[in-house]
Amino acid sequence: MRNNLTTLQITDLSTPESGTGAKAQFAEDVKNGLGQEAKKLSSRYFYDGEGSRLFQKIMHLPEYYLTRSEHEVFTTQQQTIAQKLAAQGYFHLIDLGAGDATKTRILLKQLLQQNADFDYVPVDISGDAITELYQELPTELPSLQTQAVVGDYFNALDWLDEHKPGRKVLLFLGSNIGNFNPDERQEFMQKVRKHMQPGDMLLKGMDLCKEPETILRAYNDAAGVTAAFNLNLLHRINRELGGDFIVDQFKHFPIYDPQHGVMKSFLISQQDQQVTIKATGQTFHFKAWEAIHTESSYKFTLELAETIGHENDFKIQQIFQDKNHYFADVLYIVT
Ligand SMILES: C[S@@+](CC[C@H](N)C(=O)[O-])C[C@H]1O[C@@H](n2cnc3c(N)ncnc32)[C@H](O)[C@@H]1O
Repeated sequence: MRNNLTTLQITDLSTPESGTGAKAQFAEDVKNGLGQEAKKLSSRYFYDGEGSRLFQKIMHLPEYYLTRSEHEVFTTQQQTIAQKLAAQGYFHLIDLGAGDATKTRILLKQLLQQNADFDYVPVDISGDAITELYQELPTELPSLQTQAVVGDYFNALDWLDEHKPGRKVLLFLGSNIGNFNPDERQEFMQKVRKHMQPGDMLLKGMDLCKEPETILRAYNDAAGVTAAFNLNLLHRINRELGGDFIVDQFKHFPIYDPQHGVMKSFLISQQDQQVTIKATGQTFHFKAWEAIHTESSYKFTLELAETIGHENDFKIQQIFQDKNHYFADVLYIVT
């Protein structure tokens, strides 16, 4: 049964976590990450307003095959994807980490064209991303019923269970799943699974193992946009937590480990230096050439996609790939 929604509503679950709470959490995570012997910062903090803008630029770079490949999957196979999702009647299409929803929009148009019975629930931790969708979707797709949620994936799923019961189709596009290490990925899948019932579906974007140089170039573009995206994390700490990073004294350094199928990005301190971050009340020491690990991006095989599903009571219903077999959107159904 279709819920009685206005065309677009926004629920902000980031309060009371927003403002002081969110800043305190950010400070705590930075303090813990930089306090370790092998320093790290969570990729979760990439996406402030500037980070989201830079990521949009990355998606259009010639080296960044991921978006292009997944875009091709959606443009060439949208009809089949939409039919599979809508076959069992009314559903909530929940877009976890929606960002600018470029690829999702292709699917949304197709679903509307097919008169599918659904509403759209973009979820993003970035208020900026959701605000942009809020400004664009009603004009672009006036008949779309949308309930946008600003918040973390699992706060949003808790909220949805309470306020919008019904069949769920979850989208987890891009290569968001690749940002988790294997333990985190298993935890994510288990938590997602707890919010799903038999017949619910998950369409998950997975970047596939391929020629290592192709992967490496995607995270080290010639124009330096990925470097700026990575370094923005330090600017963000300066802006929001009162840090005094001299950002020019750090450099972006990506590597690809073909044995574990993981792309890793680091920020390297180019000299011995101290950085004080007011909100943490601490000064951190960086030796010359010491690294901060900022992101991992795991790559997949189709066998691994099947194993991940099997371990969590999902069955693969169909795999959609681009013509180069660079990227897969795997449609799982809960058994
Ligand atoms: C790489 S972008 C992908 C955007 C889009 N799904 C795509 O495929 O192009 C990741 C998005 O996930 C959001 N995100 C990251 N961690 C999140 C979390 N824990 N909860 C909700 N959104 C999150 C970010 O703000 C960002 O907009």
